[in-house]
Amino acid sequence: MLRLAVVGHLARTSGDFNLSDMPGGAGRMDVLCRCVNASFFLSHEFRRDVECYLVLLGGPDSPKTLRFSGEHLRYLSPDERSAGSLIKKALAIPLGEEFRESTPGVQVRRGGLAELLEEHPFAVLDEGGTDVRKIATLPEAYVLSDHLDFTSGDMELLSTRERISVGPLPLHADHAITVLHNEIDRRRSGW
Ligand SMILES: C[S@@+](CC[C@H](N)C(=O)[O-])C[C@H]1O[C@@H](n2cnc3c(N)ncnc32)[C@H](O)[C@@H]1O
Repeated sequence: MLRLAVVGHLARTSGDFNLSDMPGGAGRMDVLCRCVNASFFLSHEFRRDVECYLVLLGGPDSPKTLRFSGEHLRYLSPDERSAGSLIKKALAIPLGEEFRESTPGVQVRRGGLAELLEEHPFAVLDEGGTDVRKIATLPEAYVLSDHLDFTSGDMELLSTRERISVGPLPLHADHAITVLHNEIDRRRSGW
């Protein structure tokens, strides 16, 4: 199981956003939707052994965390609006501190990065980290930032975590996920 978590520093925590304005009013939710798609989609297949967490830190009711589970996920198609629509539905249900399902394979709860870090041994995907190709055994969980750098608060929470780079240049978060998948695919297939 590969776990990916993306911190959406401005991402809206209410489902009232407009699917046509995800980069604006929804706090760069478009970035998070692309990360969901990069986590799961192959050309004609779907990666079932992946979980993608979105940590939403924007107004009006942060923090909230969504979990997309490849094993059970339905109704996701490879366009940003499809992921956006599932996020809107998740943000419309009553929620508590435990994950509750909104649509098959999509769950939501109150809480943010601190809670998530207690549950899984996340490493940090960071362009300044150790070259992924120099690491013998890769972690099974990674946290990324959205279009912004991690905040000082995030950095404090992540200070003891392994930092791993997938290449020398700063990439968009969804592209970093694709490159990470490629590294793992190569190792798993012995390519
Ligand atoms: C757009 S970047 C965040 C802002 C970025 N530091 C910048 O200068 O534009 C999005 C996230 O993708 C991940 N990322 C980007 N490039 C990476 C790389 N070369 N290796 C590992 N992770 C990377 C990191 O988690 C990063 O926070």
